[in-house]
Amino acid sequence: MNTVIGLIAGSLRKESFSKKIAKALLPMTPQGFEFKIISIDNLPIYNQDFDDYNNVPESYAKFRHEIKNIGGVIFITPEYNRSVPAVLKNAIDVGSRPAGKNGWDGKPGAVFSNSPGNLSAFGANHHLRQSLVFLNIPAMQQPEVYLPHIDKAWDENGNLNDDMKGFLQKAVDAYIEWFKKNSSS
Ligand code: FNR
Repeated sequence: MNTVIGLIAGSLRKESFSKKIAKALLPMTPQGFEFKIISIDNLPIYNQDFDDYNNVPESYAKFRHEIKNIGGVIFITPEYNRSVPAVLKNAIDVGSRPAGKNGWDGKPGAVFSNSPGNLSAFGANHHLRQSLVFLNIPAMQQPEVYLPHIDKAWDENGNLNDDMKGFLQKAVDAYIEWFKKNSSS
């Protein structure tokens, strides 16, 4: 059976570059692995009242189930005001609860950050890593994956250009090699 790696894009908008990157990654897995896009579109803002057994939103239950069934996770994050977009932080919080049921625990991760600007969402990339430390998501350190000028990385058909595709394939290959060494499953 293939090992499933979750792809989580930190944006809700329809034309999101982060979502498009996630789609472009789908065919890049080597044999034995499979990428699965995990949507965060319908997760209400986390509220501890939702930890009440009778009060868990259906979308939380679905999301937590999806997280439980992945071997690892790649976060594809844009940057909002030099930090992680609230929707991505919210998804991380939802997956980490209720207390004592951290669904992320031990799942090897990676952070791919992107921006139309030239700083490649560096701030979001590193703020995100702070939460990953606490949640025990070991995160690939090298290569770091920064994707600048992402608005210019697409051809006339809306596909990633070859340069960006090549760069991402190398990042994926490095992640999979790193995953094999760091996964307990
Ligand atoms: C941005 N954007 C942005 N870009 C960046 O490089 N650094 C930043 O700090 C910010 N801050 C920021 C705040 C807010 C509220 C918005 C809406 C946008 C621009 C951002 O990179 C751009 O809108 C991306 O296209 C968002 O990612 P998706 O939706 O394309 O995945």
